[in-house]
Amino acid sequence: MLRRKEMFDADARDYHEYKYTELVGQLDCHSFASRQERVLRLLPDRVDTAVDIGCGSGAYLPLLARRSQFLVAMDFSREMLKQSRASYGEVCDQFVEGDAMRLPLREQCMDLLICIGVLEYLPDPLACLREVHRVLRPGATAVLSVPNSQSLWRLFEQCVGPITRRCRRLVGKGHEGLGMDAARRTLFSVRSIGTLAEQAGLHVRDVEYYNYRLPCLGGLSTTMSLGVTRRLERLRKGRWMRWVSGGLVIQCRRPGTSPEEAPLTRNCIEILACPADKSPLTQSRAGMTCSTCGREYAVDDGLPAMA
Ligand SMILES: C[S@@+](CC[C@H](N)C(=O)[O-])C[C@H]1O[C@@H](n2cnc3c(N)ncnc32)[C@H](O)[C@@H]1O
Ligand SMILES: [Zn+2]
Repeated sequence: MLRRKEMFDADARDYHEYKYTELVGQLDCHSFASRQERVLRLLPDRVDTAVDIGCGSGAYLPLLARRSQFLVAMDFSREMLKQSRASYGEVCDQFVEGDAMRLPLREQCMDLLICIGVLEYLPDPLACLREVHRVLRPGATAVLSVPNSQSLWRLFEQCVGPITRRCRRLVGKGHEGLGMDAARRTLFSVRSIGTLAEQAGLHVRDVEYYNYRLPCLGGLSTTMSLGVTRRLERLRKGRWMRWVSGGLVIQCRRPGTSPEEAPLTRNCIEILACPADKSPLTQSRAGMTCSTCGREYAVDDGLPAMA
């Protein structure tokens, strides 16, 4: 875990530029933009509380801020949090260092949770989904995104990707890439992520596919590959999409209905909890203290350290 954290800390400075700035990695950027567009379709219009688990450089925070009254950004990489706060500090109410598999959030405190491009890096994705279920209010929505194991392009990439990337770099057409791009990731099919979500007590309501790619084209020409991808992506529904889309976006719901009069959240102390026993915290001189086990969590420069 610690090594993973260090890897994301090291990638934090370049992450936004590599993944969300058109000129650096055209195909990566297209894939991230198309994912955002799909996520947007699955977000509810208006909620009280929302959280972005594994917020990275914060690209989703402005989208969530428009829909929520109280927004929390969480990541286990402090460097990622610093980057996201520098860019989106004005739109997000609280940045917290926390672990996706042991969320430092109280039970049933969130109306909306997103977890985009994170589950694939976790040693135990089911633990994370169980936490998602725990912190959602009954009837609340989670939007998750994972890489698609059925994508023919991904299968092809696993075999020849390292060679084509090398060739592209040699002819000066590639970028170095981030540490996280080379890290081991779990791929999920619609069925496997659906089963995990159901095991955690969530109901899968909708699936969107994004980043359509055909094997071989990527290695030959970026422009050609992007052209085909864009054309294919105009089509949105159909069983064949699972073979061409690099990633999946899943909308889930915690079953049940919330009482209509849930109090509005205005302060992070109302929603944060001790990650060990999920008990409420009280503000203390050191930062925050658990009311049950007495553990202290430092708040340094406004960032609670609860990972
Ligand atoms: C590929 S980035 C995705 C960032 C952002 N969600 C986006 O879509 O641009 C993965 C993020 O998950 C975070 N992450 C990885 N493992 C985590 C964990 N166990 N708990 C919390 N965050 C984690 C990393 O620090 C990184 O910021
Ligand atoms: Zn505690």
